[in-house]
Amino acid sequence: MSKSLSAFIKNICKKNNKDCTRLMDIARAVQGDFGCISGEAINLIAGELSMHRVEVESLASFYSFLSKEPKGRIVIRLCNDIIDELKGAAEVAKAFSDELGIKVGQTTPDGKISLEYTPCIGMCDQAPSALVNEVVITNLNRDKALEIVRSLKGHGDPSKLSKPLGDGNNANDLILSMVNNNIRKKGEVIFSEYKHGAGLTKALSHSPVEVIRGIKTSRLRGRGGAGFPTGMKWEFARQANGNNKYVICNADEGEPGTFKDRAILTECPGLMFEGMTIGGYAIGAETGILYLRGEYAYLKAFLEKVLSDRRKNGFLGKDVGGKKGFNFDIRIQMGAGAYICGEETSLISSCEGLRGDPKTRPPFPAQKGYLASPTTVNNVETFCCVTRIMDKGAPWFMEIGSKGSPSTKLLSVSGDCKMPGIYEVPFGIKVNELLKMVGAEDTAAVQVGGPSGQMIGPSDFKRTICYDDLATGGSIMIFNSSRNVLHIAARFMDFFVEESCGYCTPCRTGNALIKERLDRIIAGKGEPSDLDYLQELGESIKISSRCGLGQTSPNPVLSTMKNFRGVYERLVKRSKDGLMQPFDIKTALMDAEAIACRPSEKF
Ligand SMILES: Cc1cc2nc3c(=O)[nH]c(=O)nc-3n(C[C@H](O)[C@H](O)[C@H](O)COP(=O)(O)O)c2cc1C
Ligand code: SF4
Repeated sequence: MSKSLSAFIKNICKKNNKDCTRLMDIARAVQGDFGCISGEAINLIAGELSMHRVEVESLASFYSFLSKEPKGRIVIRLCNDIIDELKGAAEVAKAFSDELGIKVGQTTPDGKISLEYTPCIGMCDQAPSALVNEVVITNLNRDKALEIVRSLKGHGDPSKLSKPLGDGNNANDLILSMVNNNIRKKGEVIFSEYKHGAGLTKALSHSPVEVIRGIKTSRLRGRGGAGFPTGMKWEFARQANGNNKYVICNADEGEPGTFKDRAILTECPGLMFEGMTIGGYAIGAETGILYLRGEYAYLKAFLEKVLSDRRKNGFLGKDVGGKKGFNFDIRIQMGAGAYICGEETSLISSCEGLRGDPKTRPPFPAQKGYLASPTTVNNVETFCCVTRIMDKGAPWFMEIGSKGSPSTKLLSVSGDCKMPGIYEVPFGIKVNELLKMVGAEDTAAVQVGGPSGQMIGPSDFKRTICYDDLATGGSIMIFNSSRNVLHIAARFMDFFVEESCGYCTPCRTGNALIKERLDRIIAGKGEPSDLDYLQELGESIKISSRCGLGQTSPNPVLSTMKNFRGVYERLVKRSKDGLMQPFDIKTALMDAEAIACRPSEKF
């Protein structure tokens, strides 16, 4: 038995009070120091925490940032989402591969550096990007990749790669990252001037019930995607029986193309923490948890400092804001690379130190959430809105935006446009207004709401972004006429196949079948009947899956079949003699070419 491993595990378990709900933190620490959670480590952890070996093993095998097999001390994770691909990720991958002398998915023979792919790391506005351990590298190209490998072979220190530093707080001593916020448009609600404590002080001058009433009056709806009314959620949690209640902030931000929470976490985390504290007061909770995705680990030290400053200022801790008897504090729970953990019940499991398996609802988290207690889970942006509503009032909040969707929305814009980045716009903005704002030309398709949302074509660009029309958690991906919409849909299906937790058959198997049939169509080998097959299969996956991942996973195919029907039909069309048409990508992209008045480029 390795002595140092044993001592390390004893120590880290002791530091976490041998609390099995902190298994995730323990596992992350072991992975970080030993490059894997080996069989020996699993036994040791299980022994220290008095758990079954299989419980530890099931966690270690679930998260992509944890592994049972040894990895290099340095792991280069290349983002392989569609936007990175369009911006040249393949060339970057080749450069890394060539210089390291290994393929993606391998570790150098000296065991020092591993190279792998990872889904969206929240940097689509500065793609291609990668993580080198916890260090984010943006705007990659071949030369940069070669230089990175040479530097790592020399000094072996990923933190020395963060040059030049990014804008705003990215240059803060506790972040020191090359990430840029790229906040292109500031609105009145999130990115405007704010005096810390103003919203909290006003909230504490009211009763918790009045606070919830204020949030209900504002008609605030959750910004994480589903748009559930926040006031109602809080009311359920307040009314639920339970001695301990919890407030969880969902900063998992895993939907490809979404990176707006990253900017809040970097530039105005106080606004978010204050909203969580108001939430704690409203529902009667003493504990808050910020669930921070593993990809944003570079922000952790900074966020811990913001929390500690808030404690010093009396905004957290005992008798918060001078309110006798209101005690509330917040801890940060790191994730470890799993898209499904953005789903609130999976996220709760992950906070409990378990695999991020979704749970069957009801009971909803408001009744039975974290540690089986009433819990509210809200998005980062939602909590910021709460703080502003308390400070400026519900009427002010409702005056902004459209009638059915008050206030502003943060949009993360990426893809084929001149100014990718974050835009705080009033709800009700038309897609074509947004396209103009971001410098998009020759746009043939816009993916609204990430892969789980919908892809729309030019005839829908007059539609509006709001809960009653095109709803989005924030992801807006723009594709010009040189792009192949079916290829994009296929990449999104790859993502869902990869990220399904595998619990239910429709999602686990159905999505793989959709992908297979779609590939066949793309290869020009499809039949006209394949379209009915895809429609029926997609609809059954949506209705028979247990959680939101499966319920939205066929959307890439269903929405492109609806909005880009011609592309599919041309590919599956039969000639008069009954033989398949030869596949011709030019014909397949005729619609897009007509819109653009210019020929398509090769993908
Ligand atoms: C697969 C999946 C991933 C999700 N990812 C996120 C996420 O990254 N951030 C988020 O706030 N909500 C995410 N959600 C929605 C959450 O389940 C939940 O509805 C949300 O956090 C509630 O906050 P809100 O009411 O403030 O929107 C996801 C849902 C699903 C099904
Ligand atoms: S729908 Fe998919 S991700 Fe959700 S529980 Fe079922 S298999 Fe898991």
